[in-house]
Amino acid sequence: MATQLKPHDNSVDTPLAVLDVSDPTLYSQDRWRPVFARLLAEAPVHYCADSPFGPYWSISRHADIQAIEAHPDVYSSSYEHGGITIPDLVGEFALPQFIAMDRPRHGEQRRTVSPAFGPSEIARMGVSIRQRTSELLDTLPVGEEFDWVDKVSIELTTQMLAILFDFPWEDRRLLTMWSDWGGDIEAAINPATKDIRQQHLIDMTNYFDRLFAERKALPPSGDLISMMAHSEAMGDMPFQERTGNIILLVVGGNDTTRNSMSGAIEAFNLYPDQWAKLAADPSLIPNAASEVIRWQTPLAHMRRTATQDTEFEGHKIAKGDKIIMWYIAANRDESVFPDAEKFDVSRANARRHMSFGFGVHRCVGARLAELQLQILFEEMIKRGMTVRMTGTPERVAQCFVHGFKSMPVVIDRN
Ligand code: HEM
Repeated sequence: MATQLKPHDNSVDTPLAVLDVSDPTLYSQDRWRPVFARLLAEAPVHYCADSPFGPYWSISRHADIQAIEAHPDVYSSSYEHGGITIPDLVGEFALPQFIAMDRPRHGEQRRTVSPAFGPSEIARMGVSIRQRTSELLDTLPVGEEFDWVDKVSIELTTQMLAILFDFPWEDRRLLTMWSDWGGDIEAAINPATKDIRQQHLIDMTNYFDRLFAERKALPPSGDLISMMAHSEAMGDMPFQERTGNIILLVVGGNDTTRNSMSGAIEAFNLYPDQWAKLAADPSLIPNAASEVIRWQTPLAHMRRTATQDTEFEGHKIAKGDKIIMWYIAANRDESVFPDAEKFDVSRANARRHMSFGFGVHRCVGARLAELQLQILFEEMIKRGMTVRMTGTPERVAQCFVHGFKSMPVVIDRN
């Protein structure tokens, strides 16, 4: 059924002068494709003078986003300027975390957590992730409808994070709950939920504080909490900053990996020949994981703020202007990805996608997310599983996290 647009909804026909791509219905109703195709063609650097988040610039082209990210001194990530999302995160919402810092502090803190995602740690985690993924797949009903988001995407992502933190296994769903609250900016602003959210974040910090203290008293080990607790840059961090960075690691890995696992199912349902191709040639699996992450783009944007008056592609950008880098558009940039809408597991340059960002802030957990997807596809193919969508998925209504609330499916086995 065609979506009924309200007069104030943004669409491909909205005059460019008033087009606002932060409109959450573009994403909840899955209407964003022609709108960004138009921006790419007609206004790759676009100014929206009025939105619920104030005025902002939209950058859509792949090359332009790389150019912005390559100059972090001019285009800042710092929460002191409002942070990395289209709403300004100020005051109590602006918990210090290194994704929203500039150099030199960003580099110091990033270097502390990076080793937890190095090749030997990834190989070690891969063993546990495969075991847990296999166990979960073997419990799924065959020929019976269930929600893929809850039963698979959320559960596997939660397990992956629990492995990364060496988090007490029986408590792992706390990670899901904290992440959902922590990442819910709407709930942080809403007077009805603000205090509940705050209490959950306090509980989370207390829980992690206990883990921190325990791991600090033990010799260093490979898990992320131990690495942070024993590090110079993060070991004695003030409470606020510790909370901020823990939220970053819990939230950063959660919605994103979850929605790439759900996006994979939508992509393979729209392009069933691609699942057959993958099953016939599993050597394509690593590339398929990259193509899923490109095609889905689990985070639609990141934001920067200009630290000085500057000029970009002939446009005058003023100090303090908000610049939104639409990864979701760059991943459909035909000059980089021919026939960009098509989901193609053998796409030669799938790895050039922008979903992990670019430059000094490029996602530190990228390898882990790719690994989780690869293992999922390998184990599904081993079991001869095909996942069939049986209804319309419910999509997240926001312009930052791009994904699904639920997705009814049935598993067929051959
Ligand atoms: C940074 C996306 C998985 C932790 C980022 C950025 C993006 C991103 C777009 C910001 C890049 C920038 O500003 O240039 C994704 C996607 C994922 C994913 C699409 C899954 C498909 C993960 C996982 C973890 C993680 C599994 C860890 C558990 C982080 C952290 C940062 C980050 C800590 C901050 C890096 C920095 O500022 O230096 N991610 N992410 N992410 N991500 Fe991910």
